[in-house]
Amino acid sequence: MSKLIIANFKMNGTKSSIEEWFNTFSREANTSNEVIVAIPSPFLINFADNGIRVAAQNVSPYVSGAYTSQVSAEMLKDCGIEYSIIGHSESREFLKETDEDIFNKYNQLIKYSIKPVICIGEPLKIREDNLLQSFISSQLKYFEDLENELIIAYEPIWAIGSGLIPTVEDINEVSELIRGICKNVRILYGGSVNKENASNLLNNSNIDGVLVGGASLNPKEFANIAQSC
Ligand code: PGA
Repeated sequence: MSKLIIANFKMNGTKSSIEEWFNTFSREANTSNEVIVAIPSPFLINFADNGIRVAAQNVSPYVSGAYTSQVSAEMLKDCGIEYSIIGHSESREFLKETDEDIFNKYNQLIKYSIKPVICIGEPLKIREDNLLQSFISSQLKYFEDLENELIIAYEPIWAIGSGLIPTVEDINEVSELIRGICKNVRILYGGSVNKENASNLLNNSNIDGVLVGGASLNPKEFANIAQSC
């Protein structure tokens, strides 16, 4: 089965730099893996139809109304968006999103047939205190035994942007835990993925893909990652 390779630009890029990124990536990449690029929301409508799947980085948990600054699932659908990241640790931290908010976002996306990419992952302290299993289980409590196919990105917070990545055994332990809670799931790994470590990660049969932040900003490096298995 092909792997899912997602770029997360976070709050980076301009219309012209993103256009250049897509041009370079299309020239460089030669892969049968599924590629998705999560770009900042002002540009979604410009790139929704450019031959490479585009994702939003977040969505409102509400339908519509007096929620200044928020973007609804209906709006994303109207722009032609098929995927959205939800629950990224940076949104959980800076926007104070709770597991319940994230489940409400999930439900909004499902209502509009947009595929959620649900991010989970522990801070270092939780791992050091041996609380990993209960922490991850609690982040997944709303997603237990759902029938829909879920895409879960396991992104340990301490691995994001740090150059550190968990061992294969650590990733396999979490992947087993996720598969024990969620029935029908594709598991991605995220956190300091780059062209040097991608092939190792993607050749692990417990990992169905990767979510790439910093290294995805360089289209040649991301093309390299996308074709590393
Ligand atoms: P990183 O970010 O690849 O820069 O560590 C991953 C993410 O936050 O999705």
